Amino acid sequence: MKVELRHGDIRSRRAGVVALGILQRSGELTGAAAAVDRATRGAIRALLKRRDFAAGFLETAVLFPGGLGAPRLLLVGLGKSGELTAHRVLQAAAIAARRAREMKAATLALVPIGAGAGGLDPARAAHATAEGLVLGHYRFTAYRTDPGPPPLRSIVIVENDRARLPLLKPAVERGVHWAEATCVARDLSHTPGQDLTPGRMAERAREIGRKSGAQVQVFGVPQLERLGMGALLAVGRGSSNPPCLIVLDRPASGRGKRAETPTIVVVGKGITFDTGGISLKPRESMHKMKYDMSGAAAVLGLFSGLPSLALPFRVVGLIASAENMPGSRALKPGDVLRTLDGTTVEVTNTDAEGRLVLADALAYARRFSPIAVVDLATLTGAISIALGNLAAGLFANDEGLAAELAAAAAVTGERLWPLPTWDEYLLDMKSDTADLVNSSGAQEGGAIVAAVFLKHFARGMRWAHLDIASTAWSPTDRPHESKGPTGFGVRLLLEWLSRRAWEASNAS
Ligand code: BES
Ligand code: MN
Ligand code: ZN
Repeated sequence: MKVELRHGDIRSRRAGVVALGILQRSGELTGAAAAVDRATRGAIRALLKRRDFAAGFLETAVLFPGGLGAPRLLLVGLGKSGELTAHRVLQAAAIAARRAREMKAATLALVPIGAGAGGLDPARAAHATAEGLVLGHYRFTAYRTDPGPPPLRSIVIVENDRARLPLLKPAVERGVHWAEATCVARDLSHTPGQDLTPGRMAERAREIGRKSGAQVQVFGVPQLERLGMGALLAVGRGSSNPPCLIVLDRPASGRGKRAETPTIVVVGKGITFDTGGISLKPRESMHKMKYDMSGAAAVLGLFSGLPSLALPFRVVGLIASAENMPGSRALKPGDVLRTLDGTTVEVTNTDAEGRLVLADALAYARRFSPIAVVDLATLTGAISIALGNLAAGLFANDEGLAAELAAAAAVTGERLWPLPTWDEYLLDMKSDTADLVNSSGAQEGGAIVAAVFLKHFARGMRWAHLDIASTAWSPTDRPHESKGPTGFGVRLLLEWLSRRAWEASNAS
């Protein structure tokens, strides 16, 4: 499916469906809505007058009005103009693409949503429109014999003001690119454990690295042994699919390369399937644990989106990947392992494996002397107890970094909610035998305790941790997220990095 911006008149545009965003109770129709209304002899006003459609947020109506280049006119309510945000625009665009695909249309045409009477910055609105279209259109059909409604062939965003094209074109391209990067992450998280082993994840990382100008290194078992990554090795030991550490390394763009280039490290939990190991999980929803590599998927999604950004810093992605299986060789409760930084950990619960593999990855991150480290992990069930499914947990040892991430999240609509990282929480994690245990056995504050465990391994670095177990999987169909893996974090990271780049360029 191709999304492009074209100059033209929406009324005469040939397409299977034309979609229009309509503001609620905005008095007279304006802009493209007014023009389409005139061309269709008042079809939109008639509908609004009869209250069959009130343009409430995400309300839709389909008309066959005649007078347009398209047989169908899809109206999408935008709600009140004062409440319109970029994220609402994204969701409205997502509904448009979703409905057009359900109608089995081959093509969809629309004007950028939210820029006219909506009052949003035109480039921002075009970016959000493009993102929403790609996200709403997405379906994962790789394993279906009947894949359902086929993809649209193309979506055309039509702009009638030629002077605006140079501003809108890069915004649309970037929006498409970021959303496609999100879909890379979704595809990975959807893929069953049988087909996405740590080895296969490393192959995908190599492919993505090749396309995005990143060097990719993969450390297998012998190298992990030489390095001393005892935790990642231990977690992976029960599986016949061996663990690995994947390193993606993308240099800064343009001038200012070389030795002193600041480095940002992004770390992903890459458990390709989490059975719990010997501390086996209950059977009911274990199948969902194929998405326990969603942090890694976000890192790979980020890298596939990086060519859209010119960054004055090097970006390193670290993925700690393993399959957490029971078996005769598997890690056992009571076993003690030594992490890369020398900390010894008594394993009291083999199901608390995420913090183990991340401990080694965070310790490895220190080698890059990064200016910031962000890890993403489907780390705890407890984060969903705390926050439900609408926000990821935000933990950090640096308030500035937490604020930067929160600001980026506010723009992309990927909600983050701050939780504390007080060191006293680690007191419960003291071991009688080793330095730390990996689980205290208590349920209370589970997401915080896990974060504070990671904080120990991130000491000396500016670090933030996103517990995305709550948001990386949507329990229901939403406009821009169908049920299942969401690709959470990809757009957030891209937004964060692009803001940092912008601020760096304004500072110098
Ligand atoms: N991958 C899970 C976390 C998880 C649970 C994600 C449910 C999504 C839904 C993680 O490895 C895990 O098992 N965590 C344990 C930690 C506990 C043993 C301290 C948990 O949350 O129960
Ligand atoms: Mn687990
Ligand atoms: Zn896990």
